Amino acid sequence: MGGDLKENTRSLNEKFQNGEKLTWITCYDYSFATVIESTNVDMILVGDSGGMAALGYEDTTPVTMEEMIVLASAVRRGAPNKFIVGDLPKGSYEVSDEDAVRNALRLIKESGCDAVKLEGDNERILSRVKAIADSGIVVIGHIGLTPQSIAQQGGYRVVGRDEGEISRLHEGTKSLIKAGVFSVLLEAVPPNLARDISEKSNTIIFGIGAGPFVHGQLLILHDLIGLFPDFRPKFAKCFIPQIITTYLEDIKDLSESKEFFKVDGLFYISKLAIDAFVTEVKHDLFPSKEYSYKDN
Ligand code: KIV
Repeated sequence: MGGDLKENTRSLNEKFQNGEKLTWITCYDYSFATVIESTNVDMILVGDSGGMAALGYEDTTPVTMEEMIVLASAVRRGAPNKFIVGDLPKGSYEVSDEDAVRNALRLIKESGCDAVKLEGDNERILSRVKAIADSGIVVIGHIGLTPQSIAQQGGYRVVGRDEGEISRLHEGTKSLIKAGVFSVLLEAVPPNLARDISEKSNTIIFGIGAGPFVHGQLLILHDLIGLFPDFRPKFAKCFIPQIITTYLEDIKDLSESKEFFKVDGLFYISKLAIDAFVTEVKHDLFPSKEYSYKDN
């Protein structure tokens, strides 16, 4: 939104109902949040991927509630008008509905997030989703590849290439919606399956690594600006190379002017990259085939 009005579930649903593709990126700190605040990105995810990108853990397993609250509070201070979703970290919601509601309330109250996200769709998780939604908190589901249960899933891989997984993803989406989610995120799902699921859903379906036919795209900020060299999945497009020419032209144009400080540096180059992501998603240009998994 980048203006005075704070994004909310109603404004997001209006865009969805009008057929506009939604954009969502991760963020874990104040400075990058101020960059995102200056763009038209629709939503921010303070993902537990911050455990890897910002805190240096090998995976998301060790991330705690306290760490999520620190990261999400910083992002809220930098992006006061954005709709911010905070990840419930592993161990904060599995044990009981009461635990899940208590931790969801903590994340919302102590960090200022607008919504929480949790992973999975089995009976236990559906009960947690219902309990959190019933307590008045906006909740987003996350299925397909779910990094918090990567050991159980047998590693990082595309999910939804056999009949069992295909019907499980269809059923999982329906059950999460019935349990009260605001939206469902599909991660690492074949594009045509993600399309079938999206076409059947009146609820916003986001994708990351799920091809171009979903209602909105999530991308990890550190992939978008090429700041996480350890691992880059197929869908993780770095937008920096394509905006360098524009950046250099802007610098040239403005170098004599007092506006120079606004374009000189990482703030501006990151903003251009995020703007390019937004433009490509809104015009159905991202993700192209190059950044989508094959259907089988
Ligand atoms: O933590 C995160 O950033 C996520 C995405 C990988 C979907 O959950």
